[in-house]
Amino acid sequence: MAVELTDPSGIPVKVVAGLHELPALPAQAPHMFNFGHHQARTNAPQRPPREPAAVQRLGHVVLQSTRYIEALNWYLDNLGLIVSDFLYFAGQRDRGPTMSFIRCDRGATPTDHHTLAMALGPANRYVHSAYQVSDLDALAAGGEYLRERGYFRSWGIGRHIQGSQLFDYWRDPDGFLVEHFADGDLFDNTLEPGWAPFTASGLAQWGPPASGDFLGTSPKHARAEALSMFNAVREHNEFDVKRLIGLLKVATS
Ligand SMILES: [Fe+2]
Repeated sequence: MAVELTDPSGIPVKVVAGLHELPALPAQAPHMFNFGHHQARTNAPQRPPREPAAVQRLGHVVLQSTRYIEALNWYLDNLGLIVSDFLYFAGQRDRGPTMSFIRCDRGATPTDHHTLAMALGPANRYVHSAYQVSDLDALAAGGEYLRERGYFRSWGIGRHIQGSQLFDYWRDPDGFLVEHFADGDLFDNTLEPGWAPFTASGLAQWGPPASGDFLGTSPKHARAEALSMFNAVREHNEFDVKRLIGLLKVATS
């Protein structure tokens, strides 16, 4: 059974109940690690195979909206989602958040730090979707597999701050952005939302700097981005000139 809705950004949302589950596909076994003095592996060299990372499940989707607060409230009110972390543009905290990481309220049952993340921006669009793989070796070896075949790594490998995931971002041949991740945070419904400034350097604890491709500031994106910013500022929405200035500062801070 499904209900088809449209969120305030115009993005179609299908709420589905009573899905029948299919048998699980063969899993990629997690590796056995020696952690410091906790040494679980002996007489067995670590040899992660260089093979495609097997996706275990969809973790989250990230959307951008010109009506971010309106869309955020719609998801909180209609789907009962709760906020794990808010980000705000530096110097504009008094105007409220411009990005939020949102999780399902499953009571005492831990759930992903974010199932949905939303940011204020000049267009209503998909940003990326993220797929869990078993561990860091599966992530990295799977990344080598893609790199050797000429795929474009957008950003990675690193560890996020909001959600703590080990991440690796790739573009498929159509430019569609996807993330492989492992070791993400799980929260129950007792944690209060966090607040932090929205900066490129604040998106990761370690790893290479966020790339222009990931941030949408690379030359191949510049023309389309400038046009969408120009149009968004002229339209009646939450993305005004001050917000545009705030967004431009994110990439360089
Ligand atoms: Fe992500």
